[in-house]
Amino acid sequence: MSKKILITGGAGFIGSHVIRRFVNKYPDYHIFNLDKLTYAGNLENLKDIEKAPNYTFIKGDIVEMDFVQELFDLHQFDGVIHLAAESHVDRSITKPLDFIFANIIGTVNLLKVAKDQWEESNFEGKRFYQVSTDEVYGSLGDTGLFKETTPYDPRSPYSASKASADHLVRAYYHTYKMPVVISNCSNNYGPNQFPEKLIPLIINNIKHQKTLPIYGDGKNVRDWLWVDDHANAIDLVYHKGAVGETYNVGGNNEWQNIQLVRKVCQLMDAKLGREPGTNEKLITFVKDRAGHDRRYAIDSSKITNDLGWKASLTFAEGLSKTIDWYLENEEWMEHVTSGTYQSYYQQQYNV
Ligand code: NAD
Ligand code: DAU
Repeated sequence: MSKKILITGGAGFIGSHVIRRFVNKYPDYHIFNLDKLTYAGNLENLKDIEKAPNYTFIKGDIVEMDFVQELFDLHQFDGVIHLAAESHVDRSITKPLDFIFANIIGTVNLLKVAKDQWEESNFEGKRFYQVSTDEVYGSLGDTGLFKETTPYDPRSPYSASKASADHLVRAYYHTYKMPVVISNCSNNYGPNQFPEKLIPLIINNIKHQKTLPIYGDGKNVRDWLWVDDHANAIDLVYHKGAVGETYNVGGNNEWQNIQLVRKVCQLMDAKLGREPGTNEKLITFVKDRAGHDRRYAIDSSKITNDLGWKASLTFAEGLSKTIDWYLENEEWMEHVTSGTYQSYYQQQYNV
C-alpha cells in the first residue's frame, strides 16, 4: 500500500519545489497537496506534475477544523509535511491576525486531528514535520550563528506566530509522544517566489526599470539558500531525522541587502545588455521595516553531520540561474503581477 503524505502549502514557493521532488522521486507514495490558494498559492508552479498518478491537489483551509478532520478521516495520512503559512514579514506587520490564524491555529488543527487519529495505532509509522524559519531565533549582532539550542526570541508577528507553532509541535511530542521533526531554515531564493520578497522583487523591478527599494541603511544581513537545497533538506529530515529533533538549515552565505542588490544589478546589466552601472541608479533607500531584524546566520553542522546534507549550488550559480528563470518566465511573472494566476485553479479543476 502506498504511503499517503499530506503536504500543506504545496502551491507556494518552497512547497511547490517539495511537492515536485516527492512526486517524482517517490512513485510509491501518494502526495496530497492541501492549499488554500491565498495570494501566495499558485498552481501554475506545479503545471509539470499536476497530472502525475501519485499526486492529488485539495483546495482547503487548515484553519477550518471540521474540514481538516474530514480530510484526515477520508484519507488516513501516514505523514504530514507542514509548510502552509502566511510567510511575508511586511504583511505580518500590517495584518498580524492573519498570521495568528493561519500559522498558529492552522498548525494546532493539524496536530490535533493527526494525533487523535494516529494515537490509536500508537503512532506506528507516522510522522509530523513542521517546516519553520530561522527568524524564531531573533536577531544577531555582527558575529555568532543560530544553533538548534539558541533560545527562541521572535520579534515580528510572523516570527512570533511561527515560534508559537514550533512550541505547539514540541508540546505534542512531549505530551502525547507524537513523532515530530522540525527544521528552521534561512532565506530561500529561486524560481516561483512571489515578487513581494526581495530577490524576485528586485529582478522584476530592474527588468522594468523601476526603483529598487532598500529598507533603512541596507546593511541588514540575510543568509541565502537555493530553494531546491531546502527541498532536499526537507526530504532528508522527513525520512531520516530523529524524532523530536530540530535541524537548522542554511547556506553559509551571508549578504548585506545592499551588497546583494548591487550584485543583482551588475549581473542584470550584463544579461540585459545595459551599460555597467545602469541598474544601480535605480537603488532607492526607503523607510525601514518596523522592528527590522539586523542579521540572521545559521550553523547547519547538525544536519550536515547527522543526515549528510549539503548545499548543491554556489550562490553565484544559484543567483544567475534565478535571474535567468525570471527573465525566461515572463508569462509566470505577468500572471502573478496581473492576478490572472488565480483563475488557473478554476480552469484546471473546472469549478
Ligand atoms: P509562500 O507564502 O510562498 O506559500 C505559502 C503557501 O501556503 C501558499 O501556497 C498559500 O496559499 C498556503 N496557505 C496559506 N495559508 C493557508 C491556509 N490557511 N490553509 C492552507 N494553505 C494556506 O511561503 P514559502 O516562502 O513557500 O514558505 C513556506 C513555509 O516555509 C512557511 O511555513 C515558511 O514559514 C517556511 N519558511 C520559508 C522560508 C523562505 O525563505 N521563504 C524560509 C524558512 C522557512
Ligand atoms: O529567514 C527566513 C525568512 O526569510 C522566512 O521565514 C520568510 O518567510 C521569508 O519571507 C524571509 O523573510 P525576510 O523578511 O528576511 O525576507 P524578505 O525577502 O522580505 O526581505 C529580505 C531582506 O530584504 C530583509 O532584510 C528586508 C529587506 N527588504 C525586503 C524588501 C521586500 C528590502 O530592503 N526591500 C524590500 O523591498
